[in-house]
Amino acid sequence: MSNSDLTPRDRFTSRFGIIAAAAGSAVGLGNIWKFPYVAGQGGGGAFLVVYVLFIAAIGLPVMLSEFSIGRRAQRNAIGSFKNLAPRTPWFLVGVMGVAAAFLILSFYSAVAGWTLEYIIKSFSDAFAGRDEEELNLMFSTFVSGTWRPLFWQLIFMVLTAWIVVAGIKQGIEKYTKVLMPLLIVMILVLCVRSITLPGGGAGLAFLFNPDFSKLTAGTLLGALGQAFFSLSLGMGTLITYGSYIQKNNNLSETVIQVSVTDTLIAILAGIAIFPAVFAFNIDPAEGPGLVFITLPNIFQQMPGGYFFSIIFFTLLLIAALTSSISILEVVVAYIVEELHLTRKRATILASVMISVLGIFCSLSLGILSDFRIFGLVIFDLMDFTASNLLLPLGGLFIVLFVGWYLGAGPARNEISNEGALRLGYFPLFMFLVRFIAPFAITLVFIYGLGLIRI
Ligand code: PFF
Repeated sequence: MSNSDLTPRDRFTSRFGIIAAAAGSAVGLGNIWKFPYVAGQGGGGAFLVVYVLFIAAIGLPVMLSEFSIGRRAQRNAIGSFKNLAPRTPWFLVGVMGVAAAFLILSFYSAVAGWTLEYIIKSFSDAFAGRDEEELNLMFSTFVSGTWRPLFWQLIFMVLTAWIVVAGIKQGIEKYTKVLMPLLIVMILVLCVRSITLPGGGAGLAFLFNPDFSKLTAGTLLGALGQAFFSLSLGMGTLITYGSYIQKNNNLSETVIQVSVTDTLIAILAGIAIFPAVFAFNIDPAEGPGLVFITLPNIFQQMPGGYFFSIIFFTLLLIAALTSSISILEVVVAYIVEELHLTRKRATILASVMISVLGIFCSLSLGILSDFRIFGLVIFDLMDFTASNLLLPLGGLFIVLFVGWYLGAGPARNEISNEGALRLGYFPLFMFLVRFIAPFAITLVFIYGLGLIRI
């Protein structure tokens, strides 16, 4: 019995729908919340250069590989490997991906929950007249609390589950097509406001003038982890989405469009945030609170800030939602197709398990903050393990799989739509997946973990 007898596959219905959904997965908290602060901690411009290099040399080939695997196999992250490499341990790559999905969504939903709180705060004009210190205190008091963050996190998980139950076409495709362009417009508006702040130029210099003396091994690993995280790579999200893409879609084009959109939005978020950070004398290495402290500070000083604040946090929520759906979908597609539960049951089961893990993430910023593993609170441990370990490792195995196990023949057939498209760049792609990407990931990995010193 083939898999399609078990579950009729939900599909994206249009080219724009595919891009909106995949870009919806890629563009999320990683771009707007995480990128500015990891870039800030990584020294700004130098981080950006390395990040963009990683996207081009590693991100693009990994993304094309993931789409190809999924579309060829027509299965979920684990099932795809079982299908293309039966009776081999390759399916373990998918297992690692599903594990990463659990870890990521557990802290991702916590942060997404914060955006709900900040939407409410925006409505009640809670930022008005407060200085940076007060906004800082407001944020830290909130996240270290017990019930409020948990409440919002739960609401967010319910929202995510509710859309995932409805399937892909009806949920993500419909929403993202409208909301992603809106998000871009909002960020552009914020960029203009931020750049024109007196003293903001230093922020742009920080982001665009690379000071390579700031680069450390940790920064390199951080940039690689961020590239994977931001592009939704290394855990089978895009294998799963690839399995929903029509056979006549030009995968390479989709990859370029999604990666460019994702990178541009991360840079725009940087442009919106760093000038303000410098204008208000905030430490660019501030950390996870950056967006929740800096932006309210800008909003309460700009004309119409009340409305911009509401709209911004709402769009941040939506960006988070279109990503969290894709993360949950990895787990749900696996449970539905391999364990044969109904979609509804699979979604409830996965959401409950992730929410339980999420409780610990959230509490680790408050009452559990003394509980540390390798010096990290649970929240940071989940993030580090998933983003900097599991995703790059997953990406490594994915390119090795396409480059060496599957090989050039099947890869070319899939990417060229069985010969319908001319692929002048195919040798370059094979070179990247066979040599450059595996070598670069391995090197950054062991160097970043401190296993070797250059
Ligand atoms: N790419 C998302 C973001 O930047 O917010 C997060 C993410 C989604 C990571 C899906 C990994 C993933 F598989």
